[in-house]
Amino acid sequence: MSGRHAAIAGVGSALPDRVVPNAFFESIVDTSDEWIRQRTGIGERRFAADGQVTSDLATAAIRSALDTAGIAPDQLDLIICATLTPDTPIPAAAVWTQRKLGIGCPAFDVNAACAGFSFGLSTGAAFIESGAAETVAVIGAEVLSRVLDFTDRSTCVLFGDGAGAVVLRPSDTPGLIGSVLGTDGKAAEILIIPAGGSARPATAESVVRRDHTIRMPSGREVFKRAVTEMAAACRELLDKSGFEPGDVDLLIPHQANSRIMVAVAERLGIGMERAVIDVAEIGNTSAASIPIALDRAWRAGRIAPDALVLLTSFGAGLSWGANLIRWTAPEPAS
Ligand code: ACO
Repeated sequence: MSGRHAAIAGVGSALPDRVVPNAFFESIVDTSDEWIRQRTGIGERRFAADGQVTSDLATAAIRSALDTAGIAPDQLDLIICATLTPDTPIPAAAVWTQRKLGIGCPAFDVNAACAGFSFGLSTGAAFIESGAAETVAVIGAEVLSRVLDFTDRSTCVLFGDGAGAVVLRPSDTPGLIGSVLGTDGKAAEILIIPAGGSARPATAESVVRRDHTIRMPSGREVFKRAVTEMAAACRELLDKSGFEPGDVDLLIPHQANSRIMVAVAERLGIGMERAVIDVAEIGNTSAASIPIALDRAWRAGRIAPDALVLLTSFGAGLSWGANLIRWTAPEPAS
């Protein structure tokens, strides 16, 4: 394949220090460590410290990715941050990140909820492929602990905070081989933060009703659609790119729930030794989950040069995506 392509030059992640074990939830809602582990695979997650915001984590993650690539922050000519929990509705989390990096390039957010990193990655790659940008930061960053209802046991146990990032650079051969993205707005209500937008602006009542937190009326429906759409997106992407599931060296699904990830891998015929599951320690960090898992897998030596890496995501919208990557980042420093 000739032409100008986008490739990953560096990867990084950042997690808050505060570890929150399942036992924390046993003290505030009617749940148990056993229930959470069995149904989700989650054992603990990280929560941001008081005053720690999404752009703090995003800045740390992209700094780490830039370090691995040997690229200075002022070489970035675009910052894309995938998030559903920006520091402020405006400006974007990417803008606060740009300010913290002390640089002056364009910066904007992408909101496709838990599928945000797939959307951000294909957007960043398009900027490189078209020649509109040379060095692009694609970040997934969330502080979900600020949008949880800690009286709702069906949602508050699922999520965590963190950020992951990649640096994209032009390449003669495809690093990002291709992407598939999808959205089904008919299912918008099954995963939603109902208030705080133009439909239901913040009022004293909306705060009392906790309508600014994540609502998921049917976790089962979300579960089923997550498995169906991620597996279908991966199949479509492999088909159109001329690969088989057997060619995939590493599958990195959105880290929502280990049962969802196992079901996706099974449908694709990819053995779990070729899949990354780190939800036990990290929880569901929405748009940050894939780049965090990617960075941790790379630092653990699970991604060899030239490896074929398949990412897939699913979240509110409903929205989903898949990205196929030929791994080009340098080896981790030993
Ligand atoms: N502790 C104990 N019991 C619970 C808890 C909890 N934390 N949460 C729910 N329950 C109860 C329910 O109230 C219900 O009780 P009932 O039978 O008395 O009514 C029972 O457990 C079964 O509830 P289900 O929702 O049917 O349980 P299920 O096995 O489907 O597991 C879960 C629930 C974990 C939410 C699952 O549906 C799931 O993972 N869905 C995907 C949702 C998800 O990951 N969303 C995140 C955002 S989207 C994304 O990232 C993909």
